[in-house]
Amino acid sequence: MESCVKGTLWMILTLLTPPLFDCKTFCPKSCECQSVGHILCRDRNGRDLLQLLTVHTYTLLLDKANMNVLSEKSLSNKTLLLRFGVTNSHLHTIHPLAFHAAPQLKSIKLTDNDLSTLPAQVFSPLSVIEEIYLDGNQLEIIGPDMFEGLDRLLILDLSRNKIRDLPPDMFDGLSNLFLLNLGRNNIKKLSPTIFHTLTKLQLLRMYYNELEVLEPGIFDRLKSLNVLSLHHNQIKSLPPRVFWSLENLTDLTLSSNQLKGVPHKSFYNMTKLKKLTIYSNPLLSLPDELMGHMPDMTQFYLYDTNLITVPGNLFANMSGLLELNLHLNDKLRYLPPDLFCCLPNLKKLSLRNNSLQDLPPNLFSTLATMKILLLNDNKLKTLPENIFQDLTSLVTIDLKNNDLNTLPGDIFLSNTALKAVTLSENPWNCDCAIREFVRWIRENDRIVLDKDDVICHSPLFSLLRGLHTLPDDEFSFCDEKTTGSLFLIQTVSHEPTQTPYYTSVTPTTKSTTSETTTYSATVYTSASSQADTIPNGLPVFHDVLMVKQGPDYVHHDTQTPYYTSDTPTTKSTTLETTPYSPMVYTAASSQADVTPIASPVFYDLLVVEEGPEYVHHNIHKHWVYVWFLPSGSALVGSIMFCYILLLVVGLVLILAAIYGMHRLGTAMDKINAECAQNEEHTMLSDLVHA
Ligand SMILES: *[C@@H]1O[C@H](CO)[C@@H](O)[C@H](O)[C@H]1NC(C)=O
Ligand SMILES: *[C@@H]1O[C@H](CO)[C@@H](O)[C@H](O)[C@H]1NC(C)=O
Ligand SMILES: *[C@@H]1O[C@H](CO)[C@@H](O)[C@H](O)[C@H]1NC(C)=O
Ligand SMILES: *[C@@H]1O[C@H](CO)[C@@H](O)[C@H](O)[C@H]1NC(C)=O
Ligand SMILES: *[C@@H]1O[C@H](CO)[C@@H](O)[C@H](O)[C@H]1NC(C)=O
Repeated sequence: MESCVKGTLWMILTLLTPPLFDCKTFCPKSCECQSVGHILCRDRNGRDLLQLLTVHTYTLLLDKANMNVLSEKSLSNKTLLLRFGVTNSHLHTIHPLAFHAAPQLKSIKLTDNDLSTLPAQVFSPLSVIEEIYLDGNQLEIIGPDMFEGLDRLLILDLSRNKIRDLPPDMFDGLSNLFLLNLGRNNIKKLSPTIFHTLTKLQLLRMYYNELEVLEPGIFDRLKSLNVLSLHHNQIKSLPPRVFWSLENLTDLTLSSNQLKGVPHKSFYNMTKLKKLTIYSNPLLSLPDELMGHMPDMTQFYLYDTNLITVPGNLFANMSGLLELNLHLNDKLRYLPPDLFCCLPNLKKLSLRNNSLQDLPPNLFSTLATMKILLLNDNKLKTLPENIFQDLTSLVTIDLKNNDLNTLPGDIFLSNTALKAVTLSENPWNCDCAIREFVRWIRENDRIVLDKDDVICHSPLFSLLRGLHTLPDDEFSFCDEKTTGSLFLIQTVSHEPTQTPYYTSVTPTTKSTTSETTTYSATVYTSASSQADTIPNGLPVFHDVLMVKQGPDYVHHDTQTPYYTSDTPTTKSTTLETTPYSPMVYTAASSQADVTPIASPVFYDLLVVEEGPEYVHHNIHKHWVYVWFLPSGSALVGSIMFCYILLLVVGLVLILAAIYGMHRLGTAMDKINAECAQNEEHTMLSDLVHA
């Protein structure tokens, strides 16, 4: 409002005109007369104008008037002047008796000038003054008696100056003051009694200062206060009960301070509170009883703190909350089960950009009116079954950028109003468990806003495929599980450990595995040997290795560049007996280019078909090497034989070609030499004949 007025009105010049005069007849040059008694002017020389004006002026506001000095006579003979202002005019000096000529003034506005000092008691003749605006100057020190006796003062604006200290009794006697603005100064400390006579104060602005402490009892007499702005200071701690007398408070801003904690019951006894900000404080914890009954609070923000968790009843007294933004707390890991118990009107809940790893099962069970739920940019690994079951009004849910592997197919079953789901940037594991969820995505692909980026991170053969592109029969192998031809090996470690460990394949627990027990593969994973070569952040080993009866090769299906090669490697492993043929290379580094995934995730699922006896895999410089021993079958033997035969034949052919080239070369030389001789002969004989 204030700035709006400043920005739009240039100079308002209003003349008190005799009843029959039209104001236009009194309109000074470059002024604009809007209606009877109201004139707007701009860029006029203030001193000229003051001389021009008659005794009838009652409101005079000069903007950009280039008036450096307010002299003893500037206001003389303006006995009807009630409102006087000089703004944006480089005013730097006020004569000590400048206001003696106009003791009837009710308002003085000296905003945005160059005042660095004020004469002592310059305002004291103004016994009926109601407003003093000194904002936007260079004031550093203000004398203790500057506002003495101005007991009709309603508004005092000292903001945007360079005030460091305020005398303790500076505001004494201002018993009608309504607004006190001390914002954007350099105030470090306030006397505990400085506001004690301001019993009618409704707005106290102290934001953007250097306050480090609040004295106990400093606000005790401010019974009428509605707005207390303390944001952007350096306040490290609050005295207990410092706000308790502020029963009429509607706005309290404490954001952007240095609070590491807040005393027990700090915000009790403020039943009219509509706005409370405590974000952007390095809060480490909050007490169990903090918020008193505050039913008028409709929005609450708590972000940019160091909180790891919050008390379970933190919002219990904010029953009118429509929007709760508990987000951008990068250490926030746990939420208590009943945190949102008592928010029957909540429409929007933002929990994004925290570090949440899991959620209590019934966290949202009371939020039947909620429309927007933001859970994106967390570290959620799983979601409890039925967690969204009671969110029957839910329209939007964002689950982007978490650690989700899979979700149950019926997770959104009861969210019938759902219109927008975001699921990308999760390491989806496209194995059997995700089958039903994939089906849900296919059936609801208009709801999934980012469906093209909802891609498999595993298993290997599905890497980077969109979940919505996986046909159902792709999962038909899941049904085979029940026939018992699959072995599941659960290897445990994701982190390099000091000791090598061994996991052997055991038949699945399914009953029909007895006939397939001939397959006994062993997985050897030597974590310690890899420890130095594993790129940071990569999961080291595969969660599941499936060994399946089938053709004798390591099988992997993928749509993105992978390199498969038969080239033998020289890598020696712990195998002593049989020679082994390396089969699969997968270059993780080359995938890093094609995938938008932040950390190239390694394959949680590797399918090896037809019972290799021994599998070894290793990660070296972003490559995964997989070796396995061929089984003793004749087929493998013949394939090996063919392979070696091909190599030998190839080698022989190359040698033969080289030899052939050599022979050809020497033959050509000979022919060339003979030709040269012949030519010489004919030339000689020609000469002879000539
Ligand atoms: C004020 O009015 C008096 C009498 O009308 C006159 O003598 C005096 O010069 C005026 N002062 C100014 C500054 O105009
Ligand atoms: C608090 O506000 C109400 C209404 O806004 C008002 O009637 C009451 O006088 C105020 N209390 C104090 C102590 O100013
Ligand atoms: C609220 O404030 C009043 C007056 O300051 C005080 O008497 C009362 O004990 C306070 N109530 C609570 C619950 O703190
Ligand atoms: C809610 O407010 C009431 C009244 O101020 C208080 O007695 C109660 O302890 C508060 N609850 C919590 C959880 O702070
Ligand atoms: C939220 O988190 C994501 C991922 O960590 C980050 O890219 C984004 O900038 C964060 N948003 C904000 C506003 O900090």
